Amino acid sequence: MRRKGVSILGSTGSIGTNTLDVLRSHPERFRVVSLAAGRNVSLLRAQVEEFRPVFVSVETEDAASALRNSLSAPVFVEAGPQAAMKAASFEGVDMTVAAISGAAGLLPTMAAVRAGKDIALANKESLVLAGSLIMEEAAKRGANIIPVDSEHSAVFQSLLGHRREDIKRIILTASGGPFLKTPLSELGRMGPDEALRHPRWKMGRKVTIDSSTLVNKGFEVIEARWLFGLPPEKISVVIHPQSIVHSMVEYIDGAIMAQMSAPDMRSPISYALSYPERISSGTEPLDFSRLSLEFSAPEPERFPCLGLAYEALKTGGTAPAALNAADEVAVGLFLEGRVPFTGISRIVGEVLGAHRSREPRSVEDVLDADREARELARSVAASA
Ligand SMILES: NC(=O)c1ccc[n+]([C@@H]2O[C@H](COP(=O)([O-])OP(=O)(O)OC[C@H]3O[C@@H](n4cnc5c(N)ncnc54)[C@H](OP(=O)(O)O)[C@@H]3O)[C@@H](O)[C@H]2O)c1
Repeated sequence: MRRKGVSILGSTGSIGTNTLDVLRSHPERFRVVSLAAGRNVSLLRAQVEEFRPVFVSVETEDAASALRNSLSAPVFVEAGPQAAMKAASFEGVDMTVAAISGAAGLLPTMAAVRAGKDIALANKESLVLAGSLIMEEAAKRGANIIPVDSEHSAVFQSLLGHRREDIKRIILTASGGPFLKTPLSELGRMGPDEALRHPRWKMGRKVTIDSSTLVNKGFEVIEARWLFGLPPEKISVVIHPQSIVHSMVEYIDGAIMAQMSAPDMRSPISYALSYPERISSGTEPLDFSRLSLEFSAPEPERFPCLGLAYEALKTGGTAPAALNAADEVAVGLFLEGRVPFTGISRIVGEVLGAHRSREPRSVEDVLDADREARELARSVAASA
């Protein structure tokens, strides 16, 4: 069997390390062609020694020289956004796992799409920022986008064998994060330690905070709009604290297809890597004798960021990019202890309210809107 060539963007992160875990179990199917990471040189060095990619990119020149000096055998190492784009589109890559966190993932994801690579998409921000541009380019280049986000993987799987015109709505599940039951009056006192204590998933810091405000679910609503071509009114969200049902599709006859598994990202990652086949992922089987599944509606006053995300999606244009930029700034300030937890939704709401949305014609237009919204978010935060 010809081995599938894989590029992993964000190899040192939570999705990246889970991806390498799956690849490690299937050396007969996959080979790692390129890796892209940020600054975690010691972990990246171990990955390069084990998987022997042809090309490696890191965020800075300092990280590049530290990596080169630590390797036992020479490997091509380059630094900066252009290097990440090169890793994404490297010759011999069949599938690019897009798992850099935040807006920094956009250019490398777009580079992979432009090169016609299939994409295993974890970096939802790419679609939040530039959904129309990425989907247009993917259609033009014949690049398949297979979701890695567990919710979108569940929807993708629940759509197979059904007609698009029969969909009534899709239902994204949300665990509700660590503050699902916290009295509303206490939310303002919650700090990074509490917000980083996610009850179900072990993820990177940014996406963990985003899960506590549910803006992450809002990003996923926007991601679903582009992946599945559905309007906002056909995308709903339900709280499901156990994270066993990863999402559902309801059809016009009332039938609902759901995808279930233990909460382990190796399951959707292995599906994206091997689609349309299935391979073992290491995920524990479900024990139905011990399962109890609960569902409830998200409370708007507890999770104002979810409403803001729907608003940005309905406004369209560069509004979702402004939403994401404001959130990245606000979460960064929250993690530094400079704004309270409730300040995140305040900053995002004010930036979105002031942003003048326009239809982006290029990735550069999107990045301009991103920069503008970041500046505004910093000044909103400073004026509090
Ligand atoms: N974790 C999950 O379970 C999960 C589930 C669904 C979707 N996602 C999405 O997947 C993406 C990654 O999430 P994660 O939890 O894996 O994040 P993470 O653990 O924080 O990892 C982020 C990765 O991106 C790299 N990175 C950050 N900035 C970079 C830059 N400017 N240039 C190059 N590399 C850069 C980091 O490198 P260094 O660490 O070396 O600096 C790291 O490898 C996010 O978009 C997230 O929303 C995650």
